[in-house]
Amino acid sequence: MYCQTVQVADQSEFQGGYRLLTLDAPDIAPEVSPGQFVHVRIPHMEESVLRRPFSVYRTEGPQLQILYKGVGKGTRTMTYLRAGDELSLIGPLGNGFPAPQPGHFPVLVAGGYGMAALYLLARSAPQPGIAFFGGRSAPDILCVDEFESLGWEVRMTTQDGTRGRAGIVTDEIDDWWAVRSDSQPLEVYACGPNAMLEAVARRAMERDWQAWVSVDRNMGCGVGACLTCVLKVKQPDGEWAWKRSCKEGPVFDCRDILWEED
Ligand SMILES: Cc1cc2nc3c(=O)[nH]c(=O)nc-3n(C[C@H](O)[C@H](O)[C@H](O)COP(=O)(O)OP(=O)(O)OC[C@H]3O[C@@H](n4cnc5c(N)ncnc54)[C@H](O)[C@@H]3O)c2cc1C
Ligand code: FES
Repeated sequence: MYCQTVQVADQSEFQGGYRLLTLDAPDIAPEVSPGQFVHVRIPHMEESVLRRPFSVYRTEGPQLQILYKGVGKGTRTMTYLRAGDELSLIGPLGNGFPAPQPGHFPVLVAGGYGMAALYLLARSAPQPGIAFFGGRSAPDILCVDEFESLGWEVRMTTQDGTRGRAGIVTDEIDDWWAVRSDSQPLEVYACGPNAMLEAVARRAMERDWQAWVSVDRNMGCGVGACLTCVLKVKQPDGEWAWKRSCKEGPVFDCRDILWEED
């Protein structure tokens, strides 16, 4: 893990209000594993000392990319970053996704920035599988070409029906599962809104899928010190314990999370 000043190489519009930020981070980029994140101190926000967490979308040599949306004060300020600007970055952080087990069929489920958070996993998986992407509307469906060019089948769902099937992502998963004839066990990786993660987790537990979920919690320090990001996780003795999503997570086995507490 490094805490460094890095330089913005580029920033451009992506789609659907998302922006692609490319950073020159020669120490951090090569160390990133799929599902890990970086913690960004946003320049020119002296009144706000908290960093913001972002999944690493792609790495290429000394560079890493973040795909983000301007949703609040911090991310809207980030949209003003230009090539040559400097910012402080901590990373790589978090446990990341475990690699797909040999013999398991990989299934990705994503909403919002989850599509970006799963790209490195798709790129490093031993075999391509199927990806289910869901969003409110067509612009919310990101990176389809990038996943398809890696050989993944991408199925899309939008609530307003403007891209892919009309409905929610689990509708498409249920239909796919109902007609699936292959007996290869599934290994599911999900990143997106908590309601989506819980819906995927409940199906995984009923249908005996191995499923990993990447949770989104507010983070203060990002390095395990402040306990802002805790969630209740089941223990082997049947009790539960607080776990830090920045340190022991953000990826958890869906069976270990106490979902009723959310
Ligand atoms: C692991 C992880 C990966 C992520 N990856 C991405 C990504 O790839 N792309 C993307 O677009 N978004 C991503 N996000 C979400 C992104 O971090 C938020 O959109 C961003 O923090 C919003 O910042 P803001 O200042 O614009 O919003 P605001 O809502 O103005 O501020 C949010 C800030 O306040 C803090 N905060 C809010 N409430 C509390 C509280 N109760 N206690 C403590 N602190 C609080 C948050 O930690 C954050 O720093 C990710 C989040 C996590 C946890
Ligand atoms: S954000 Fe501080 S402990 Fe996780």
